[in-house]
Amino acid sequence: MQSELIKSASYIAGNWLSAENNETFPVVNPATGEEIGTVPNCRAARFQEAFVAAQTALPKWSAETAWSRAAKLRRFYELILTHEKELAGILTLEQGKPFREAIGEIRYGASFVEWFAEEAKRTYGETIPTSDPSKRMMVIRQPVGVCAAITPWNFPNAMITRKMAPALAAGCTIVVKPAPETPLSALALAALAEKAEIPAGVFNVVTGDPIEFATTAMKLDYVRKVTFTGSTEVGKTLMRQAADTVKRMTLELGGNAPFLVFEDADVERAVDGAMTAKYRNGGQTCISVNRFIVHEAIADKFSSLLAEKSRALRVGNGMQKETEVGPLINEDAINKVSALLSDALAQGATLTCGSVPDRKSLFAQPTVLTGVSRDMRIWREEIFGPVAAIHRFSSEAQALELANDCLHGLASYVYTRDIGRAHRVSEGLQFGMVGINDSFISYPQAPFGGIKQSGFGREGGKQGIDEYLNIKYVTIGI
Ligand code: SIN
Repeated sequence: MQSELIKSASYIAGNWLSAENNETFPVVNPATGEEIGTVPNCRAARFQEAFVAAQTALPKWSAETAWSRAAKLRRFYELILTHEKELAGILTLEQGKPFREAIGEIRYGASFVEWFAEEAKRTYGETIPTSDPSKRMMVIRQPVGVCAAITPWNFPNAMITRKMAPALAAGCTIVVKPAPETPLSALALAALAEKAEIPAGVFNVVTGDPIEFATTAMKLDYVRKVTFTGSTEVGKTLMRQAADTVKRMTLELGGNAPFLVFEDADVERAVDGAMTAKYRNGGQTCISVNRFIVHEAIADKFSSLLAEKSRALRVGNGMQKETEVGPLINEDAINKVSALLSDALAQGATLTCGSVPDRKSLFAQPTVLTGVSRDMRIWREEIFGPVAAIHRFSSEAQALELANDCLHGLASYVYTRDIGRAHRVSEGLQFGMVGINDSFISYPQAPFGGIKQSGFGREGGKQGIDEYLNIKYVTIGI
């Protein structure tokens, strides 16, 4: 694929730079194993340069009016949409998701830029009624400063815009380190930011060693915020490291989403919802269903309908028009799906459709497992692949207990036609997000985020910009 947006350099202070020692690493198409490009393998010195650039750009950027920052973000948003096909092509090549889904991600990613461009103008303060007539009191909200973002491979575009757009809207500057699997989408965004004339140093994208990036960011006192989407394990390490300089954090970590289907649910609708919430991005999202919890009265119907629809899904190279499920991202991913399935089958689960991946390629067939029990690894660990694991329940209390019996608390889904139950269960679920008869919950206007070991902080919604603003209380003697 030819595109002026495919870059093989990091973007620092408005310049396109190689690594210190000119080292590079390859970017590989997971569908074919082919190398599609190389990017700089930057180390600490380059990362530091990027943070210096962000710090240098901060005073001017934060002093611009919100209206001026919003106008620049709006230009960036429009450029993303104008280039959506190119961006989606790059995304599919390096990440594997079907091109149609990649277009969806580019629009989803752009929607955060549009939303936060508008939110920039609404970072209101407050006045506080005073208890002392000789004083006036108020609250203003100010940018937290230089931010560091570490972004994942599963949404190589949208997880960047969901962080950089609120940061820039708030008046912060940022250095983004994309996942090594998907740096090209990040660099393409930087190329468009340059075209949009977002000032040099405000948005920097560096590729290279993830551990050195985190260590560099954590050591610098003036880096005031770290935002991360990725595994709970890495999130915990970052949290420990951030303690030394007491940085603010947003952590969007792993999930283990339950999908509860009650006996009063519209089963066809629940199965359609399950197809979206399970197979979007081949099951490689933090909000993918991990555990289907289905009432025993409708479990057979639900499982056989889900298996029938799963069998019909076309798995293949995301660049082929008919593909509905692309490859998994890498060997570790396919090995994990294989291991979880083998463990479940050895412990008595039943394969209703699909198979254990042969591991000759990164493709995994949509698979439905019934008879899954709560002590199986597939129930307790994040699958991150196209496998639906089904367990039966017999009462509402038992369903809630099963759903909440996990360390994570990101997304959850409930299918019921009983309004009372919908309220009771959504209040009882220990998760940051609940979809009731709704399996597609991600929108720029909604606060995305988790509780428990799924992390903290919210991305999107009117809350999303707060993550990049400090509250300052000012009292005035008059
Ligand atoms: C994620 O997997 O972390 C993001 C999913 C989404 O935004 O819908």
